[in-house]
Parts: sequence; structure tokens; C-alpha cells
Amino acid sequence: MNDSDYIEKRIRKLLKERNAILLAHNYQRDEIQEIADISGDSLALSQEAARTDAEVIVFCGVHFMAESASILSPDKTVLLPNLDAGCPMADMVTVEKLRQKKAEYPGIPVVCYVNSSAAVKAESDICCTSANAVRVINSLNDSKRILMIPDMNLSYYAAKFTDKDIIPWKGFCPTHHRIKVEDVMRMKEKHPEAKLVVHPECTPDVVALADHVCSTSGMYRYARETDAAEFIIGTEMGILYRLRLENPDKRFYLISDDLICNNMKVTVLKDVVFALENMVNVINVPEHIRIPARKALERMLKVPRD
Ligand code: 13P
Ligand code: SF4
Repeated sequence: MNDSDYIEKRIRKLLKERNAILLAHNYQRDEIQEIADISGDSLALSQEAARTDAEVIVFCGVHFMAESASILSPDKTVLLPNLDAGCPMADMVTVEKLRQKKAEYPGIPVVCYVNSSAAVKAESDICCTSANAVRVINSLNDSKRILMIPDMNLSYYAAKFTDKDIIPWKGFCPTHHRIKVEDVMRMKEKHPEAKLVVHPECTPDVVALADHVCSTSGMYRYARETDAAEFIIGTEMGILYRLRLENPDKRFYLISDDLICNNMKVTVLKDVVFALENMVNVINVPEHIRIPARKALERMLKVPRD
């Protein structure tokens, strides 16, 4: 048995002993996705965190995701195996700055992308993910104007599917923001038959060129259900693991080699073992923040699917 087989066996045993479930985001390292009980996009993982019977949730993702799990399941122990896994976009909005903005736009509801801290969610009316942003916005029947935080690119994308006036925040994901039109054109020339699929965190000029725009889990669906044999992919490289596994006869090309989110890659199998063995790196959210943040998350989870 090699080292990684041993570690994987150890993790499976610990998960059983602790009555724990391992959730992994679609951008995690291949070996983490391989061992996960459930891997998915932010929406699927928060739905799972809200309904699991496990006593412990090991969240292989970034900090805001583990925080959301803890907000939704306060009776469970939520572990973030590597505490260095943050999200630069989430750090682009603070409670103080949001309060200032709300004062500029009194009475306007705040739609908060889940890529944000618990404290920022607590200041917001409703959360959204990349999979349900448009539905969430359109569910706010009484409001013509909306303040949307922190991802400006998701706001620009959602604005195309609503008649509401969206006031964007100037945050962005450094990984997706890096994708340039020139990179896309180069790939399109190289693979003229390929469908271009991008995440809505990409800039509007890149989104405008795409055949399909969707969340990470939406990309699995699209690749499965579309007849095309080749796809150019505009999101973090972790997506390729399952795309290739689930579609062995199709080909997937990343727009550029540097689409790596270091925060998503910082967690390794040994961190999972250490956290489970010692029950450390527990994510807790103080009640005065958890309760209003939960309201915003639960309101999102109640928005009906199309
Ligand atoms: P989704 O998996 O919800 O599309 O999220 C993308 C992302 O950037 C998470 O950090
Ligand atoms: Fe944050 Fe972008 Fe990394 Fe997702 S991919 S965790 S949005 S920096």
C-alpha cells in the first residue's frame, strides 16, 4: 500500500468513527475530490450542509463555505482542514464598508454572493450563489433596485436577465478576472469546434464570447448533456478532474494554464487526517452573527428552482 492509499484509508476510518461527512468543492485537489462523500458547487454544498445527519462536517473548500455550513448546522461540528484557505473576493467587502453603502442607498435590499464572510451575510437581506443569482434577484418582487455584493462580474451577468437596476460592488475573483479576451480567442482559433463554457465570475467581455455561462456544477451538466466533443473551459482548473472522469470520450481545454486558486489548493489529505484525528480547526460563528446570516442563507434556499 503506498502513502496516499494509506492516508485515504485512514480518512475513511476516521470519517466513520466520528460520524463525519466530507464535502469538497469542485475546485479542490483531485485526490480530495476523489475521497469526498459529496463534491459540488457552493449551492449544492450548502444544501447538503443544511440537511446532513452526520455529526461532523469536514469542509474541503474555503473559509466562507465552512462558515456557511456552521451557520446552517449549528449543532454539528464543522472542520476546515486548513485554516489558510480564504477567499480574496470575500475579503473585498467588510461590514463597515457595506454599512456605509447601505446608508447611501437606504431601503434597497442587499443580495450577497455566498463568497462573503458571515458578518457580511448578517448585514444582507438574501444570499445567492452563481447557480441561482438570477432567480434570487427576480424573487425580490417588491424592489426595483438591488445592491449586489461583492462580485461585480456576477452582477453584470445577472443584470442581463432582470429588469431590476443592480448596483454592483467592485469586488472580483482574481482567478476568473485573469482570463483575457486574447486568451479566449487564441483557444478558439486552436479548437474551432469546441464550445466555450465560462463561469459568471469572468469579465463581461469574456462572458459575451461564451456558448454557455454557468456555475461549476452547471459545467458538469452542460458537458454531459451537450453533443459537442470538445470544450474550452473558463474556470479554476480543479473542474477538469470530474469533467474528464465523467466524459472520457470528450476533450476539455482550460483557457490558460494559470487558472489556479491557491486558496482552493492549500488543503491536502494530511490536513484532513490531522483535523479529524484531533478534532481541530473547528469553525464557529457567534450567535449574534449566525442568526441574521442564517436568515439570509435560508431565504436563498427557499427560492424555488425554475
Ligand atoms: P460555484 O462552485 O458555486 O460555481 O463557485 C465558484 C467559486 O468561485 C467558489 O469559490
Ligand atoms: Fe475566491 Fe475565486 Fe478562489 Fe473562489 S476561485 S475561492 S471566488 S478567489
